[in-house]
Parts: sequence; structure tokens; C-alpha cells
Amino acid sequence: MTYLVTGAAGFIGFFTACRLLEAGHTVIGLDSVNNYYRTDLKERRLAIIEETARKQNSGHEKNWIFYRGGIEDKGLIDTVFSGHTFDRVIHLAAQAGVRYSIENPYAYSVSNLDGFLNILEACRASRIAHLAFASSSSVYGMNKKVPFSETDPVDHPVSLYAATKRANELMAHTYSHLYGISVTGMRFFTVYGPWGRPDMAYFKFADAIMQGKPIDIYNNGDLLRDFTYIEDIVKAVIIIADNPARADTAFDPLHPLADRSSAQFRLYNIGNNHPEKLETFIEILESLLGKQAKKKYLPMQAGDVYVTAADTSALERDFNWRPETSLERGLEQFIQWYKETEPWQKSL
Ligand SMILES: NC(=O)c1ccc[n+]([C@@H]2O[C@H](COP(=O)([O-])OP(=O)(O)OC[C@H]3O[C@@H](n4cnc5c(N)ncnc54)[C@H](O)[C@@H]3O)[C@@H](O)[C@H]2O)c1
Repeated sequence: MTYLVTGAAGFIGFFTACRLLEAGHTVIGLDSVNNYYRTDLKERRLAIIEETARKQNSGHEKNWIFYRGGIEDKGLIDTVFSGHTFDRVIHLAAQAGVRYSIENPYAYSVSNLDGFLNILEACRASRIAHLAFASSSSVYGMNKKVPFSETDPVDHPVSLYAATKRANELMAHTYSHLYGISVTGMRFFTVYGPWGRPDMAYFKFADAIMQGKPIDIYNNGDLLRDFTYIEDIVKAVIIIADNPARADTAFDPLHPLADRSSAQFRLYNIGNNHPEKLETFIEILESLLGKQAKKKYLPMQAGDVYVTAADTSALERDFNWRPETSLERGLEQFIQWYKETEPWQKSL
């Protein structure tokens, strides 16, 4: 099949593109390769995708084509969609990050609202069979009832990032209802692993511990996170993309469930189903790096939430998907990659 993967130079997009190519598919990638975090990491990911495609390719047809540009550029999106026929669209490009949305709100309206609308419009015009797009656990916002279920109300976001992700779900539902597009929103829970994101806590902690610098621990470490390993996430992304959402014939508008619809729309949590204390996470990192962290305890940050915990029973019920990687095993993979690959190593 031919897949469009937006955000292909990003953490989740990179793994998704590689796994699809390894399965013999054709992947069209798109990414602005913006400098929200280090672009050298994004370029290295792209080089690996290129290499994976080359190894897989036995014929004359190209199995990997990359477009460098922004989803907010409607002309570019039209060119991409008119130049190819996509069986599936996996939309992962977005301005990510909760904290950055407080400093730089407009980056979120450009990529996550205008850009997302361009993707929806293009899917409508090209009659795409299924659009699977990235949402986030942050939509649960102020919710205290754990684990978070897709049927819980999500009307109290605490960051603009979360609000744009929730807006995406609502926009997608609208397009599904109006134009009969099949769409699935994927609520990812704190994804980590090799080739991960330097803006996220696990990566920052590893950098700081290795450099003997203090790590910032918010809310005195009293935070719970459902850390989810990248390979578990990508397996779910591909299973979901390959199974278009169908209209729920049992949908009852008098008692509407939030994750289903009479339109071809659904939502899934993709998480580890096993929240861990931040302190435990740091202890595992310390033991893998063989160094103690210098800890700087700070109050809760604006936009942050105390706990994320995924109820993944819907994914289990529909696709028999379960997370398979423990935090110890996943962090071991991350640290192994980090020690081999990251530039601090060379500067020591
Ligand atoms: N990693 C996580 O823990 C996590 C959790 C919840 C949701 N998500 C969501 O999953 C998706 C993928 O996340 P990730 O961790 O791979 O992030 P990432 O930042 O590594 O990847 C996103 C990619 O999109 C690109 N991009 C950003 N704005 C763009 C634009 N306007 N046009 C084209 N490309 C653009 C970036 O250059 C980047 O390479 C995002 O939508 C993110 O919000 C991630």
C-alpha cells in the first residue's frame, strides 16, 4: 500500500516510516524539519529512512519520497495529494510540547489548526480511505479519574497544546460526519525510546545526569506518567491505520459515547497502562547511566498534569493490542542508543 506519513522526520513518524518500508510498503514522507529541537537528529532519522527504503527496494518504483515543507502550506499539500494516491494517511506532524505552548502559542495555531485543516481538506478532496492522526493524553487535562478512558469527558484542557489536540478530534469528527471520511484519533501517552525527543524529560534527564548538571523535578517528583515505549506505539499506529474506522450502527445520540459515532470516527488511547512515579523513572535512569542525578525540586509547572494513565481496553478489545515493553527494558534500549549515538559522548 502507499502511505502518507506526515512528521516523518519526527520521533514517531521516523519509526512508523521505517516499519512500513520494512513491511514492503511505499511511504511518502512530509516534514518541515523545523528547529523546535535539534535538526541534526531529524536529519539523521531521515537518512536512516532513506537507507531502509534503499535496502527494501527491489524494483524501479521509488518506495520512499520525501517532501520538505509545512502542512500549513496549502499549495504544498495540494501538490503532495495530487501527485500520489494514498491508501492511508498517518498524520503525525504537529507542534508538540506542552510547555512550549505557553511561550509560543502561535506555533500551535499554525501547525495544529491551520495545518490540520489542510490535511482534512486534502483527505476529503482525494477521498482517502482512512486518516489516522495523532492526538494526545493531554486532552484529559484536569481529569482526576484514572485510568483515563476514551469515553471520559475532555472539556477541561490545561494547555493550548492540549486544546489544539482536542480541536483536531472535533474537526476530524465534523469532516467524518459531513464528508464520509474514515478517521481515527490516536491519544499517545508519553512516548520514549531510542531516537527520541531531546525536549522531553527522559532525554533532558539523561543529558543532565551525564554532564553532572542538576535535573529539574517538578511537584517534588510527585508525578505519575504512563511512559510508553516507541515500538509499542508504532505497532498500534500501524494496526489502527490499516483498519479504517467504521460507523457505529449501535451509536445512540441520546446517550452518546465520546469515542464512537454514527460517522466513521473513533478514538483510541495508546499507552502503557502502567503509570510510574517520576522518582522510579529517575532511579532506573541513574542505575543505567551509572551516575547519581543532582536533583533540583521545583513546584508544579503551569500547563502540567499530575498523572497520566491510559485505559487501553478498547485497543485490546478491537485489535488484541497490548503494550509489551516494561519501563526497565525500554529505558535500557534508550540508554544503549544514547550512549552510542549522542554527541556528548564525543565531547567528553
Ligand atoms: N512523543 C510523545 O510523547 C507524544 C505524546 C502525545 C502526542 N504526541 C503527538 O504525536 C505526534 C508525533 O510526535 P513526536 O513525538 O514524533 O514529535 P516530533 O516533534 O518528534 O515530530 C513531529 C514532526 O513534525 C514536524 N512538524 C512540526 N510542525 C510541522 C508543520 N507545520 N509542517 C510539517 N511538519 C511539521 C516536526 O519537524 C517534527 O519532525 C505529534 O502530533 C505529537 O503532538 C506525541
